[in-house]
Amino acid sequence: MKNIALLGKGKTGGRVLELSSDNITVFDRSNPPTLQTLKNHDVIISFLPGKPFESYLPLLMESKIPVITGSTGFDWPKDLDQKLKNEKLTWVAASNFSLGMAIIKGMLAVVGKCDSLFDDYSLKLSEIHHTDKKDAPSGTALSWEKWLGLKVPITSTRMGDEVGTHSLDLSTPFEEISIQHKATDRKIFAQGALWAAEKVLKEKLPYGLIDFQELILQRILK
Ligand SMILES: NC(=O)c1ccc[n+]([C@@H]2O[C@H](COP(=O)([O-])OP(=O)(O)OC[C@H]3O[C@@H](n4cnc5c(N)ncnc54)[C@H](OP(=O)(O)O)[C@@H]3O)[C@@H](O)[C@H]2O)c1
Repeated sequence: MKNIALLGKGKTGGRVLELSSDNITVFDRSNPPTLQTLKNHDVIISFLPGKPFESYLPLLMESKIPVITGSTGFDWPKDLDQKLKNEKLTWVAASNFSLGMAIIKGMLAVVGKCDSLFDDYSLKLSEIHHTDKKDAPSGTALSWEKWLGLKVPITSTRMGDEVGTHSLDLSTPFEEISIQHKATDRKIFAQGALWAAEKVLKEKLPYGLIDFQELILQRILK
């Protein structure tokens, strides 16, 4: 049984509470985390919006507790990875904690080779999320662009309570290829974050800021 400090119990953090049978302390605006209250937790899971998460970075570093974070909508400090390595700390981050997203990452690395195959092609990426989502394009759409290794126009749509749909379309004069990932329940993000928490506590992962999808790909491609 782990002691988890859960930062944010909103639409996504709330699903961690539903899925986990561990001891969980919730931190939100009414109970903001402090060095003292984080003490004695084995792992921190964050589903805070990006800006509050960014403001807690010094505190989280100081706690020396491993962090699993899905917060998006901020820029990581460039020196964070090195700082974590210096302090012998392991953090795992994902713009999308879906385990299946690792499969997509592998597929996009192949699609990104299209420029060496086609003279005439176009790519477009689109994402749909719920109306409360603060950042656009989504962190996942930006990850897809990075995984492709090519610049691609991104369209963001906000509607209803959409959990998250991402699509990439590749068109050439005579064919079309589409890749779509549709999250149907926010529990997929909680499941992935809990999976990462298990790995960080049970396995000797490298120090630094670890990419969640890389962690999975290393396992499924070995
Ligand atoms: N990586 C992934 O797989 C993944 C998946 C889904 C979402 N996300 C990301 O996760 C983040 C949260 O999304 P969400 O839809 O769950 O948000 P949400 O429903 O708005 O919940 C946000 C939570 O953060 C808390 N919070 C906000 N500001 C705070 C502060 N200054 N101090 C302490 N707690 C604070 C809120 O507490 P109060 O209730 O007290 O306001 C609430 O519990 C976003 O960045 C989103 O993009 C990531």
